[in-house]
Amino acid sequence: MSDPQEQENLRLSRAEAEAELPGLVARVEAANAAYHRLDAPEISDADYDALKRRLAAIEANFPDLKRPDSPTAQVGAAPAEGFGKVSHAVRMLSLENGFSEEDIADFVERMRSYLGLAAEVPLACTAEPKIDGLSLSLRYENGRLVQAATRGDGAVGENVTENARTIADIPHRLTGAPELLEVRGEVYMSHADFAALNARQTERGEKTFANPRNAAAGSLRQLDARITAARPLKFFAYAWGALSEPLSDTQFGAIARLKALGFQTNPLTLLCADLPAMLAHYRAIEAQRATLGYDIDGVVYKANDLALQARLGFRATTPRWALAHKFPAELAWTRLEKIEIQVGRTGALSPVARLAPVTVGGVVVSNATLHNEDYIAGRSSKGAEIRAGKDIREGDWVQVYRAGDVIPKVADVDLARRDPAAQPYDFPNLCPECGSEAIREEGDAVRRCTGGLICPAQAVEKLKHFVSRAAFDIEGLGAKQVEAFYKDGWIREPAEIFTLQARFGAGLQQLKNREGWGDKSAQNLFEAIEEKRKIPLAKLIFALGIRHVGESSAALLATHYLSWARFAEAMRAARPGTPEWEELLSIDGVGETLAASVTAAFHEGPEYEAIQRLVAHLIIEDAVLPASESPVSGLTVVFTGTLERMTRAEAKARAEALGAKVAGSVSAKTDILVAGPGAGSKAKKAADLGVKVLDEEAWLALTGLA
Ligand code: IVH
Repeated sequence: MSDPQEQENLRLSRAEAEAELPGLVARVEAANAAYHRLDAPEISDADYDALKRRLAAIEANFPDLKRPDSPTAQVGAAPAEGFGKVSHAVRMLSLENGFSEEDIADFVERMRSYLGLAAEVPLACTAEPKIDGLSLSLRYENGRLVQAATRGDGAVGENVTENARTIADIPHRLTGAPELLEVRGEVYMSHADFAALNARQTERGEKTFANPRNAAAGSLRQLDARITAARPLKFFAYAWGALSEPLSDTQFGAIARLKALGFQTNPLTLLCADLPAMLAHYRAIEAQRATLGYDIDGVVYKANDLALQARLGFRATTPRWALAHKFPAELAWTRLEKIEIQVGRTGALSPVARLAPVTVGGVVVSNATLHNEDYIAGRSSKGAEIRAGKDIREGDWVQVYRAGDVIPKVADVDLARRDPAAQPYDFPNLCPECGSEAIREEGDAVRRCTGGLICPAQAVEKLKHFVSRAAFDIEGLGAKQVEAFYKDGWIREPAEIFTLQARFGAGLQQLKNREGWGDKSAQNLFEAIEEKRKIPLAKLIFALGIRHVGESSAALLATHYLSWARFAEAMRAARPGTPEWEELLSIDGVGETLAASVTAAFHEGPEYEAIQRLVAHLIIEDAVLPASESPVSGLTVVFTGTLERMTRAEAKARAEALGAKVAGSVSAKTDILVAGPGAGSKAKKAADLGVKVLDEEAWLALTGLA
């Protein structure tokens, strides 16, 4: 049966339609404006939908009357570019996870020792539910909501302002707020709303969501804010970013202030005096988990004193003053159908369990990691028994678990259900992708393919890493596209990304004929590639995908060597025993393993040649040291002896925050040695080399930290 509205229209003459149309268009436009710009919807959603349906029906019956700028033309017509980008004024971080009570005790102890707190000094923490949604940053200027952005990679997120405005829990105006206030929190969907949404989706024959978190993320990231508006999203505020003045001097006080300003804050947020109180609140929250009506996946602890939070500061991506205490993982039993081997970027052969699909905590799981050959055999990498020595075989019944977002794992195996004919798994010693020998070096838990870049799996994985978010992050060139381009032989190594346009740009024809590619998307891709030719040094070092070089070690190397030329030259020259090797090891956070791995990539061979081909296409931005106005920025500092005013860890973090490089040993490159009581050989070496030596007080005075 056709739409009742359409039938009604069939009774409408052309003249009547012509007469009705302008008024209808104006009403829809006014409703849109009220909704989006004036922040004050004037008609109900149902009335709005009815208006729009009538307009669409008239247009369908009299297509020539349809105005090109009709509001119906804008519905669901997703702008091709997607969301705009937003640089976060203050990075949006993630949280370190803890699972056991010991992990939490460790967390408290680490903070105490970093701060050098005596046992009798209290260290209160807040404890609150960890909401399982997606984080959002709201920027208020002079009390008006001016921007909303998703977390993205922490530094740059997506502009979802229009969508955020449709969430009832998010105030559009604040009274009595600081001039600049960035409020951060979690967008989520309640169980009831999730169930109703899925029921509606089913009814309409549209896709349903696996869990409330996916539903919330899918709803917030709609290019058409109308769709977001129709989805029942909620928001809890629990943190902040940039501020023109502090909200309070405690975490607890700041949350109370956000509540007073009109935000929803979680009622289970509690101030805990000590570890037992934190753990007690964790258990209390866990006991209520099933009846809260929304998903939580743990409890977040935060040091309450904001001055202490400031002193504790951050690691690469997580604060030292907070921890997520995750709930135990969810478990399920299923049949392991097959063990497959995946070959990674560094050649690691990783066994993957292909499972009969099973629901674990609301998500359907059909793959799980088996870690490595020892894990399958029932022993740890050190040779000790795990799972009481039970091995895992194809066809076995296995217990699968997942904790949070992490890849599902296999915890246990049921020997009673094992087929007597099942055979122990024979781990391959040849790479399944390229046939090269796969060897296990001493002390390595992992067997690796020795094929290097001739191994297609390694080459593709390296490319995927290269374009990943924390590396080159080229819009329109994700893992899927890279894989397809590799298969077709268009992009075999990173350098070829930058020659793609030269090789295929002229015709665009081939690219255009690929599934999902048109003139516009090809052009967009070339532009996105062009944009990333200019790349910061740290990102490039990370993007190379050298084993052991993660984001934070790449940043360490970049801030030490500052330019590509210096870095590459040093890596080429560094071999054990050379001054370049010593210099590399003097960087705090660089050990022998990392040093061996990063220098190997620069020794003569195919890997180095590929790096050279790549950098020929790039403009590499020198690393900049933070806080260049500080009197110690760019200087290399070594701490030795006992520090009395702060712990070594804090001294190091503060020096780095001021732009100094902190090294572990004294060399001719050292600018300042900060020597506390008990300084020994380092002080002597500094004296021999004529390095400036300061005591702790003089250092604090120099850096303005006294
Ligand atoms: S605080 C600097 N508090 O968990 C610390 N995060 O796994 C900022 N999350 O990215 C985060 N509930 O999206 C904080 N009560 C809570 C939270 C919470 C959920 C999310 C947040 C964060 C992620 C880290």
